[in-house]
Amino acid sequence: MIINQPTTLDLQHAIAKLLLKGNLGLAPLDKPRRVLDIGTGTGIWAIEFAEEFPDSDVLGTDLSPIQPEYLPPNCRFEVDDVEDEWIYSSKFDYIHGRHLCAFLKNFDHLFQSIFDNLNPGGWVEFQETVIDFKSVDGTVEGTALQRWNLLLLEGIRKMGRNATAATRYKKWMEEKGFVNIVEKRFPVPMNPWAKGRNEKMIGAMQMTNNLEGVDGLTMAVFTRSLGWQPEDVEKLLVDVRRDMQDRKIHAFITMQVFLTFYQARAKG
Ligand SMILES: C[S@@+](CC[C@H](N)C(=O)[O-])C[C@H]1O[C@@H](n2cnc3c(N)ncnc32)[C@H](O)[C@@H]1O
Repeated sequence: MIINQPTTLDLQHAIAKLLLKGNLGLAPLDKPRRVLDIGTGTGIWAIEFAEEFPDSDVLGTDLSPIQPEYLPPNCRFEVDDVEDEWIYSSKFDYIHGRHLCAFLKNFDHLFQSIFDNLNPGGWVEFQETVIDFKSVDGTVEGTALQRWNLLLLEGIRKMGRNATAATRYKKWMEEKGFVNIVEKRFPVPMNPWAKGRNEKMIGAMQMTNNLEGVDGLTMAVFTRSLGWQPEDVEKLLVDVRRDMQDRKIHAFITMQVFLTFYQARAKG
């Protein structure tokens, strides 16, 4: 549904790692044996994880077989729909998912599947970026960027998905029986407007990511879901692309990380 190019996925991976100070995740892992990366995309996270933890057995799953062929010996990929029943021969010590919230429909099923497939003491971690541009100084108000953003969220909602679903992950995880859920938020500047070397670097990467992805995503959602004509989408995009590069608009989106571990007696 939403356009995703392998190159943008790998750029998003680099941005997430910069936000996490070079780490692939925040869970305090202790020699995880079985690791699952759901909606793995190009598999870049799973491959790097397998390299960092050579004693782990890492499985990445996705609807699309876009992962590379040459892999670390402890990493493999399978085509699978995470919204189907989970049928695995044994449970996992770490289940990871990143940038999935705009793609999935049934979070009740997802969190139940995760709950049922974690070993006691096993960790679950989500890293989600909510496409909801904000500014603390009001510079995003009244911009074409803001108009586009609101319409995009509405279009995705009409397609039966919710691009801001991650804001409810904590509640949904609690409802399933997970306890001690930690939620961390990392602001991601939209372009290099922010002060600081690291922030400018992240902003520059995020701007490239936005500019590379915005045309395909907008055309798909606005024409299919909101009934716009392609020429009207093109017109709006001229202004949106300009705003995305405007350093006077101090916009940021937020990457949210959710972490918790499964305690055997937590359910019920
Ligand atoms: C934005 S990408 C994120 C990829 C990867 N997690 C990353 O962070 O690099 C979303 C991925 O979810 C996959 N996906 C969407 N719906 C899915 C489903 N129902 N089951 C499995 N994968 C799914 C898409 O094919 C896509 O590769």
